[in-house]
Amino acid sequence: MTPHNKEILEKYGTITEKEIENIFASGFASQTELADAMKYSLTAGGKRIRPALVMEFCRVNSERFEDAVPAAVAIEMIHTFSLIHDDLPCMDNDDYRRGKPSCHKKYDEATALLAGDALENLAFRIICSSELNADIKVNLLSELSSATAKMIDGQVKDIEFLAKDSISVDELLEMYSLKTCALLECSAVMGCICAGADKNKIASARKYAQNLGLAFQIRDDILDIIGSEAELGKPIGSDADNNKCTVASVLGIEKASLLAEEYTNNALSELNNFNNNDFLKDLTKSLLKRYK
Ligand code: IPE
Ligand code: IPE
Ligand code: MG
Ligand code: MG
Ligand code: MG
Repeated sequence: MTPHNKEILEKYGTITEKEIENIFASGFASQTELADAMKYSLTAGGKRIRPALVMEFCRVNSERFEDAVPAAVAIEMIHTFSLIHDDLPCMDNDDYRRGKPSCHKKYDEATALLAGDALENLAFRIICSSELNADIKVNLLSELSSATAKMIDGQVKDIEFLAKDSISVDELLEMYSLKTCALLECSAVMGCICAGADKNKIASARKYAQNLGLAFQIRDDILDIIGSEAELGKPIGSDADNNKCTVASVLGIEKASLLAEEYTNNALSELNNFNNNDFLKDLTKSLLKRYK
């Protein structure tokens, strides 16, 4: 990314983290250890791509990102909940996440399970207690709840596929569209909703993020094979250890990379429907080449 766009991404990350600090400092939680576990995973150091998408889609539609901060924090909470549960022994059984021991390793399985549950709930409470107008809140809650349901459906399919003898690339992509694309789509769409964007912009944001999400998950599969644990902050070889079929394992790295590039190009062309798209284009291209 250009230094300027990197700065913007960092700014969105900092805003997200400050807001998380404020929420935890406001003492919403009565269970201290549970709150510690939630905060531990939330602040362990993710890339904050989803909050950046929420705020930037708000900005490109309205020239302001400030109204999108609650939705940005909410999606990061849902995403973090998905990661905490994804790492549990009954799911991917990964001991390392965001460069630190996974939540169930730092605490215990029951605490990790409940921290995930509590983060999911807190995401909705943040939107409910925001100062946005009631129509916008309802639209955000509706979007966030359907996307969360889709993410969970995708995780169900991910597990179901373990019992199948063969899985096609199309089946994998359909599963990715749920487990990964849904939350990215929700991020872009919630940004549009906060900006009061029209139906056409929302449809375009959906299409953009679906394509971005497929490229993003294929890159994630590739990094599970060729990445470095130190850089990724999570174990590599996890998919193979779990006997998981991925687009990268089915097609091979080279073909999978080309497919990710194709989805990235689709995403980029969808961005032409938005003004001031320089940051989004740069971010989208950088995610195709990421190593973390
Ligand atoms: C990881 O998402 C889960 C996938 C959908 C592949 P990220 O790669 O965005 O994880 P963080 O938030 O940076 O830790
Ligand atoms: C991520 O899939 C999907 C989620 C909803 C968490 P992965 O299981 O490949 O994600 P990582 O590689 O553990 O981050
Ligand atoms: Mg998984
Ligand atoms: Mg996993
Ligand atoms: Mg993975």
